[in-house]
Amino acid sequence: MEAIVELVRGKVRTPVPAAHVREAASKFREVVIDVGTGDGRWAYRMARAHPDRFCLGIDANAAGLRDVSFRAGRKPSRGGVSNVWFIRAAAETLPAGLERLADHITIFYPWRRLLDGILKPDPAVIHPIGLLGKHGAQVLICINESALHAGSRPADPGACAAVLARLRPPYAEAGIVLTSCRIASGPGTTWGDRVGQGRPASSVVVTGVVRGEGCAGYTVT
Ligand SMILES: C[S@@+](CC[C@H](N)C(=O)[O-])C[C@H]1O[C@@H](n2cnc3c(N)ncnc32)[C@H](O)[C@@H]1O
Repeated sequence: MEAIVELVRGKVRTPVPAAHVREAASKFREVVIDVGTGDGRWAYRMARAHPDRFCLGIDANAAGLRDVSFRAGRKPSRGGVSNVWFIRAAAETLPAGLERLADHITIFYPWRRLLDGILKPDPAVIHPIGLLGKHGAQVLICINESALHAGSRPADPGACAAVLARLRPPYAEAGIVLTSCRIASGPGTTWGDRVGQGRPASSVVVTGVVRGEGCAGYTVT
């Protein structure tokens, strides 16, 4: 059966074959997938700044994507950008057909199910995310420091080392080799700006690389 994704543009949600997304992405040098993209503003700005990149914003909540996805679909003179698309999907139930598409996977300031899945971590969340990346894809996760756990001291390098040690084995199982964890300024996303009150938010920044062969049952072609 053909894999279908739910494309969001303004208030309209359209089921389209995942193959359409792959075909659109194939025209660009690199693919960036932003999971838990929120209002999609970061993905939109990335697409505008890098016309050679195809940006795919994915979020479980279609309502949040409404404004930016509408703007992206307008004429270029009115803010339209053809190299950013938005999909409504939860990380734990990502539609089939997007496997091994991304050169970069970003997750900025996740909350609720996505945060739990990233931090616990839950294989049901991180395995599908690992499958999005090509072999060698870069993974960048930024979490507000306060989300780590109550009482963790800000900028505590020991806390970062502990997070990395705890997350490494389950992420490796999901095909993601974690390479670093540090306290740094996060990106200027809508939520990052809110957390940082207009300045780059101090965040726990975790980086990794997708190792395609690490995902059981999936063959890279
Ligand atoms: C705090 S917002 C951050 C949004 C954006 N990344 C930013 O930095 O502005 C967290 C986002 O995670 C999304 N989210 C939560 N659980 C999710 C899941 N299981 N799958 C996909 N997105 C999820 C929410 O809908 C929300 O848009």
